[in-house]
Amino acid sequence: MSSLIGRLALVTGGGSGIGQATCRILAREGASIIVADRASKNVQKTLQSIQSDTTQNHLGLEMDVAKATSVEDALKNTLEKYAKPPSIIVNCAGITRDNFLLKLSEEDFDEVINVNLKGTFLVTKIFTNSIVQNGINNASIINIGSIVGDYGNLGQTNYSASKAGVELLTRTASKELGNLGIRVNVILPGMIRTPMIDAVPPKVQEKFKELIPMKRFGNAEEIAEVIAFLASDKSSYMNGATIKVTGGF
Ligand SMILES: NC(=O)c1ccc[n+]([C@@H]2O[C@H](COP(=O)([O-])OP(=O)(O)OC[C@H]3O[C@@H](n4cnc5c(N)ncnc54)[C@H](O)[C@@H]3O)[C@@H](O)[C@H]2O)c1
Repeated sequence: MSSLIGRLALVTGGGSGIGQATCRILAREGASIIVADRASKNVQKTLQSIQSDTTQNHLGLEMDVAKATSVEDALKNTLEKYAKPPSIIVNCAGITRDNFLLKLSEEDFDEVINVNLKGTFLVTKIFTNSIVQNGINNASIINIGSIVGDYGNLGQTNYSASKAGVELLTRTASKELGNLGIRVNVILPGMIRTPMIDAVPPKVQEKFKELIPMKRFGNAEEIAEVIAFLASDKSSYMNGATIKVTGGF
């Protein structure tokens, strides 16, 4: 039995990788999906890949999570179409700008923090205010951190700091929003085969694989299935949780 029938879900970064797989799997579970991404072409590709029945009604939006005005516009478009905000929010948009600390530019530091951490803050704040105003008291926010936010990683001071921030933003938000019926949880993926990882040099990829007990990278669906669980009432008492999905890394 599909677990998300009648629910509306916003997926940021829905144009690629984990976000795209999440759109497909939440739609399979019966949700209507708002696919939001900075890359509008990819939004269309994701919309085309979603299988759904006539009770579902999807929307594609070009949105930059790092810009408050863009997120506010996305909320406006959502309310115009559905007359309600989503009760599922998946903060999946993310970028890397890797370099060793001694060479990392201020611009690359700022950009990663702005998209990964500030973007998660802006989307959560702006959409959750609407959830509260609309009296929705069963909502789930799923943030995507990273295992490197716990352990650090060479060449990723900016990225690992942004993801550590996402984890603690999640835990604090869960304390503030739990009494409103809004659950907030974070997933820490390990190495997942997506365009983001394809940019990592093959030699480095092999080194990482050695460190994973399951000796393979995950695929985007293996994260999306956990997201679907957190979105659904099957996880109704989970709030403020951190779930590592890493193949044991
Ligand atoms: N792939 C991995 O191994 C891995 C591991 C840990 C965490 N993550 C996290 O998972 C999430 C998804 O990553 P992925 O691997 O699917 O990467 P991806 O590059 O395939 O997808 C990221 C998507 O985010 C979008 N995006 C980037 N900046 C944006 C912005 N400002 N506003 C809106 N959309 C924006 C991109 O256009 C892209 O469609 C990211 O937050 C990433 O940090 C990935």
